[in-house]
Amino acid sequence: MKARFLGSLGLSLAALWAAAAPFQPNYDEDKVPEYRLPDPLVLPNGKPIEDAKTWEKKGRPAILKLFTEHVYGRAPGRPAGMKFQTWSYDRRALDGKATRKEIIIYLTGKTNGPSLELLIYLPNQALKPVPVFLGLNYFGNQSVHPDPAIKMTERWLRQSKDDTVVNNRATEKSRGCQASRWAIEQALERGFAVATFYYGDIEPDHEEGWKTGVRAALSKQGPNTVYGPSDWGALAAWAWGLSRAMDYIEKDRDLDARRVVVFGHSRHGKAALWAGAVDTRFAIVISNDSGCGGAALSRRRFGETVERINTVFPHWFCGLFKQYNNNEDALPVDQHQLIALIAPRPVYVASADKDLWADPKGEFLAAKHAEPVYRLYGLPGLGVEQMPATNTPVGGHIGYHLRAGAHDITAYDWEQYLRFAARHFGMP
Ligand code: GCU
Repeated sequence: MKARFLGSLGLSLAALWAAAAPFQPNYDEDKVPEYRLPDPLVLPNGKPIEDAKTWEKKGRPAILKLFTEHVYGRAPGRPAGMKFQTWSYDRRALDGKATRKEIIIYLTGKTNGPSLELLIYLPNQALKPVPVFLGLNYFGNQSVHPDPAIKMTERWLRQSKDDTVVNNRATEKSRGCQASRWAIEQALERGFAVATFYYGDIEPDHEEGWKTGVRAALSKQGPNTVYGPSDWGALAAWAWGLSRAMDYIEKDRDLDARRVVVFGHSRHGKAALWAGAVDTRFAIVISNDSGCGGAALSRRRFGETVERINTVFPHWFCGLFKQYNNNEDALPVDQHQLIALIAPRPVYVASADKDLWADPKGEFLAAKHAEPVYRLYGLPGLGVEQMPATNTPVGGHIGYHLRAGAHDITAYDWEQYLRFAARHFGMP
């Protein structure tokens, strides 16, 4: 009895210690375990995929289903009765260079129901309809540009260390606080519109956030919903929101819904990849430093791991994904297949050399291992065998660069994305 008691005490102390010990990411390439990636050209029944038709009919749906059930969770479709309201319209924004529109999307059609606020800048000097860069923002639309006329978000925001967010609300100081991440003028000059909304419109980013977001609003049980293992997590909800913005874009005659680039940085890069995988209306997909659960291969366990992401962000993925904590080899998919789901549409993956947490090499390798699916369409993938040096963009239908610097999205990154999109859209 005594021995058993001590034995169980010993075990729980060990468990306590493991929980309290800080996570030690592996940043040593020599310590990356050996792993075998699932072959994107083999069907779950073991049959090979030899042509694009079989990929589209069988391979793609099978992989999409595995990602849905095991990683991101199942989202509902487009809700009935969605309504769009023009909140503001100014043809002389940004010194006359742009038209600024703000659209409120009432997701269930009810003005007291869930909504998202879409900010759009359109180049005045371009032939309409114009192609669009669409991405989520972290601190409200007013954070992407100092333009004083942007409607300030009134929603919950993560507390910031400076005075841009006080009591979880944006302050006037937050205007333009993320402007370095948004090359709006450059995009406009190149003939693109830029559209964005605050991701917290869809779901506040914390463990209980879903209760005041669309996941509860669209569920009959509301905040009492008990999620099944493959029901949607927050990333799937944010991706779903991007598709709802696309629903609006399809209705706006100034915007070209056939040329929409969905992009995102970090967790928004994960959401952009999933949005692009699920919703083939997105013509180009761009992942900036998306890392674990985004473009990086999970099996490498370099930097952030599945267990770590599921522990710190338990709301991001579906319940079943937790089954792969410290058990990556059991995953029925890996992230190269997420990139492959975007084929034959152009996709761009970017890393930063100081951003080891996101595993730049794992991001490059995922892009590389998506190539076989692009080849089914006779399309070049990356066009290189080795990871390129810093600030050396490569790629055909799969673009890649390793920017020198930290985890961020910068003017350099935008420059590559604008050029990549212009090339694929046949723009100057
Ligand atoms: C954390 C998280 C990453 C995520 C990043 C971000 O670092 O671990 O997975 O990409 O936040 O969104 O900035």
